[in-house]
Amino acid sequence: MKIDNTIETFNSLLKRRGFIWGPSPEIYGGLAGFYSYGPAGMALKNKVLSLFRQELRAFGFGEVECPTIMPEIVWKASGHLERFIDPVLKCKKCDTMQRADKFLQDLFPDLMIDGMSYDKMEELIDKNNISCPKCDTPFEKIEEYNLMLKTEVGAGNIAYLRPETATTTYLLFNRLDQDARRQYPVKIFQYGKAYRNEISPRQQVLRMRAFDQFELQLFIGKEQEMDYEDFNEVKTYELPLLNWRLQEENIDIPNTISLEKALNDNILKKPAYAYCIYLGYYLTKILGYPEEVIRLRQHSPNERAHYADDAWDLEIKTNQFGWVEICGIHDRTEYDLRRHGEFSNQNFEVPMGQDPKNKEIPQILEIAFGPDRIIYTLLETAFNVEDGRINLKLNPTLAPNTVAVFPLVKNKESIRKIAIDVHKNLLKHRISSFFDAAGSIGKRYRRQDELGTPFCITIDYESLKDNTVTIRERDTMKQRRIEISKVPEVINDKLLNITP
Ligand code: GLY
Repeated sequence: MKIDNTIETFNSLLKRRGFIWGPSPEIYGGLAGFYSYGPAGMALKNKVLSLFRQELRAFGFGEVECPTIMPEIVWKASGHLERFIDPVLKCKKCDTMQRADKFLQDLFPDLMIDGMSYDKMEELIDKNNISCPKCDTPFEKIEEYNLMLKTEVGAGNIAYLRPETATTTYLLFNRLDQDARRQYPVKIFQYGKAYRNEISPRQQVLRMRAFDQFELQLFIGKEQEMDYEDFNEVKTYELPLLNWRLQEENIDIPNTISLEKALNDNILKKPAYAYCIYLGYYLTKILGYPEEVIRLRQHSPNERAHYADDAWDLEIKTNQFGWVEICGIHDRTEYDLRRHGEFSNQNFEVPMGQDPKNKEIPQILEIAFGPDRIIYTLLETAFNVEDGRINLKLNPTLAPNTVAVFPLVKNKESIRKIAIDVHKNLLKHRISSFFDAAGSIGKRYRRQDELGTPFCITIDYESLKDNTVTIRERDTMKQRRIEISKVPEVINDKLLNITP
């Protein structure tokens, strides 16, 4: 196989090394929009999730888990039944359907299609004589298509698979209010599956019909949003902000400015929302993305979801798919709780602020991550080819294997025994270790480089004499000898010193 720095080599690596497989089920030809993670992909995802959970505990967030199926009334109240829709182009002859905005964006990469009105899209189609890519017949007028997957529960009760975790978190509001002893903001996240019946899913795991969400919610008072204490700790951070007015002028380079300046210049309206932008950026940065591939892009008023008063996407620059949203930060106002209060006949007004008589429905600020998109973009950003060697430069703390242990030769029992002992001792210290005795040592190193394993330990003839092993680092390929008894300590020290 030719190893070069191309998308084809990268895509083949995803399958070859057990990161992502599909469309699933592969043995039956695959259904578009469904993918599986192999052991390496799942190990990476679990490490990302553990890191997020650990960080969010430190930021004062609790976690909930809700059912993924909810009755129709929930989605009437949330507005998803009426407004969670995509524009669709249907061929007049062969009925092929295309999602209009994505289809046009592929055809006109230099135009900003996100947020374009249907009339403007149709104008573009007419002006450029665009027709069905399969049979070259003109399209019908743009139609709207609801993205939710419908099902029946029991005897004919209509229900929908959730298109976001967020709504299911909001349904717990009165429980959460009590649980937090009415101390605001209430900070909660939920991780789990969501489902969207995408019209023509492409872009691998970036647009799946069953996908993961990791969504953070802040329930907060109206005054508190404008006078948010924690904002003072982050206000001087400078972030790459591309507001929608810049985009209207066809500028796609963000302004790197402090959050304080963004508020003063009215690019952001609320300190608490600015804090959420910081938190989204912080959680992204600790995963190890280089600064230059991250930007924050504001939605234009046309582009925003029906519940959002302000929305920014945190995007990662990729080779294969351009800028990819991995997180959406939304100011959902009191929209969701007001609607669910109305539809369920519950009073969601709670005492808020200094005056005990002041009661209000809390506002909601949301930081919504897509873990599958994180996995894809982390892998693409880490993919590197150096002199014919693939080096997957993942953040070492997230790599599927932290260490791989090799006996130099597989047929010498004394060497193999030491290697097994080193491997087991690493596992005992809860360091993820992979034992490999198969094939040439060179190939074993290559395999681990392709998995992003930061450290390889080899047991050789010298180990038999002096109780030392070699430790080889992925990025420099440099080797040095260390004492066998110090292996877990050396690895843990190295991991501790890594600051993404
Ligand atoms: N909860 C926000 C989203 O699904 O995009």
